[in-house]
Amino acid sequence: MNQPFIMDHPLIQHKLSLLRDKNTGAKEFRELVSEIAMLMCYEATRSLPLTEVEIETPVSVAKAKVVSGKKLAFVPILRAGIGMVDGVLRLVPAAKVGHIGLYRDPTSKMPIEYYCKLPTDVAMRDVIVLDPMLATGGSAVDAINKIKEQGVANIKFMCIIAAPEGMEALQKAHPDVEIYAAALDERLNEHAYIVPGLGDAGDRIFGTK
Ligand code: PRP
Ligand code: URA
Repeated sequence: MNQPFIMDHPLIQHKLSLLRDKNTGAKEFRELVSEIAMLMCYEATRSLPLTEVEIETPVSVAKAKVVSGKKLAFVPILRAGIGMVDGVLRLVPAAKVGHIGLYRDPTSKMPIEYYCKLPTDVAMRDVIVLDPMLATGGSAVDAINKIKEQGVANIKFMCIIAAPEGMEALQKAHPDVEIYAAALDERLNEHAYIVPGLGDAGDRIFGTK
C-alpha cells in the first residue's frame, strides 16, 4: 500500500488556510483552489520519466532532458474537481481531460454517477484524478473503478483535504493508487462533512449556496 503524500509546503499550507476561512468569497476561493492544484501537480508529476535529447543552444550542442512520450490525462470529479483543472493544465498543457460526474446522495452519502467522458486513448495514459475533498472516499473509489475499467494502469489521486475515513477507504480499495493531499483532517461529522474542512467545496467554488 502506498503511503499518502501530505504536502507541507509553506505556500500550499498558507493558501489552504485562506481556503478554509468561511469569509473567503467565491472568486478568491476559486483562485486558491486553482493555485493549490498547480502547486500539488508540481509534486505529483515528480516521477514523470525523462528522456535525453540534443539541443542546439546559441553557443553549442547541449545534452538536455525532456519529459518522455508517456502521456497524461487529468480526470476531475464533477463538480468540485473542475476547480482544479486550470491549475494543473498550466503545468501540463498538453494533457487530455476526462470528466466523471458523481454526487453524494444526501441520505445514504453514497456516490451516484451521472456522467462519464474519458479520452478515447485513456488506457495509454497515466491518469491523475482531481477532487478537492476526500470525505467517506466513496466518490474517489467509484471514479477510480470506472477509470480502471477502461484499462488504465497508473492512477494517482489528488485532493486538497482528506478525512482519515476517506483515506483508509481509498487505500483499501485501491492500494496501488498514490494519494496526494494538502491536509489530513480530524474526522467526518454526522453529515459526512470533513471537520474542520472547508465546507462544501462545490458550493463554494460555484457560489451555489
Ligand atoms: C463532494 C466532493 C467529492 C465528494 C467527496 O462532491 O467534491 O466529490 O463530495 O465525498 P465522499 O468522499 O464522501 O464521496 P458532492 O457530492 O458534494 O458533489 P458536487 O461536487 O457536485 O457538489
Ligand atoms: N464534500 C465537500 O464538499 N465537503 C466535505 O466536507 C465533504 C464532502
